[in-house]
Amino acid sequence: MQTKHPLTELPPNKLMIAPSILASDIARLGDEIRRIDDAGAEIVHLDIMDGHFVPNLTVGPPVVRKIRACSRRPYDVHLMLSDPAAFVKPFAEAGADNLTIHVEIAGDVRQTLKLVHAQGCSAGISLRPATPAVSLQPFLDDVDLILVMTVEPGFGGQSFMHDMLPKIREIRRMIDLSGRPVHLEVDGGIDQETGPLARRAGANILVAGTSIFQHPDGIEEALATLRGRGTTAR
Ligand code: DX5
Ligand code: ZN
Repeated sequence: MQTKHPLTELPPNKLMIAPSILASDIARLGDEIRRIDDAGAEIVHLDIMDGHFVPNLTVGPPVVRKIRACSRRPYDVHLMLSDPAAFVKPFAEAGADNLTIHVEIAGDVRQTLKLVHAQGCSAGISLRPATPAVSLQPFLDDVDLILVMTVEPGFGGQSFMHDMLPKIREIRRMIDLSGRPVHLEVDGGIDQETGPLARRAGANILVAGTSIFQHPDGIEEALATLRGRGTTAR
């Protein structure tokens, strides 16, 4: 197994982009990952769905293992699984560097976060749009990342829920009060308009699928606009 690069190796106050490969050309997945790596995306975001926690299916550990060699960037694996505990080791062994579970899972959240750390990965916790920020409070000391869903999880290409901005601000305050180095990541409908809003609300990692892979001017331009600047004069 290659050396792990948990997200704890990256500064929690730095703006970073994590393209979600769900929106890429899956028939050319390896090339798509190399493209986002070459363009300077800091993190690769993989969405894992079980058809139960969310009404959709994606890929499992064998696919992650195959695409691991396409980039040296950290692989940030977002587990949308009802009971992720049994999959922590297989995904870690396949090459995940960060594993994020949902607070709404059926299993034991703290125990599952411990399993993630035991694999040498950083551990994230995510919450659905309807789940209040306070539900994360008991786990603040157990996580390296909080992922705020700004769409209902399950599908790419949805519109950003602006009413999640107060929740992002609230979680930013919780993290700052904790004094711990926890990343604040947002996921769903992030583009050149909503990325800066999430950033100003306190997020430091922006997950984006559609706005990166479907950008009319290409991936470099997409990343630059998400960072709040254009590469080309317009
Ligand atoms: C949704 C996933 C997201 C999604 C983001 O369940 O967690 O990562 O692919 O895609 P866009 O950027 O298209 O909303
Ligand atoms: Zn995701």
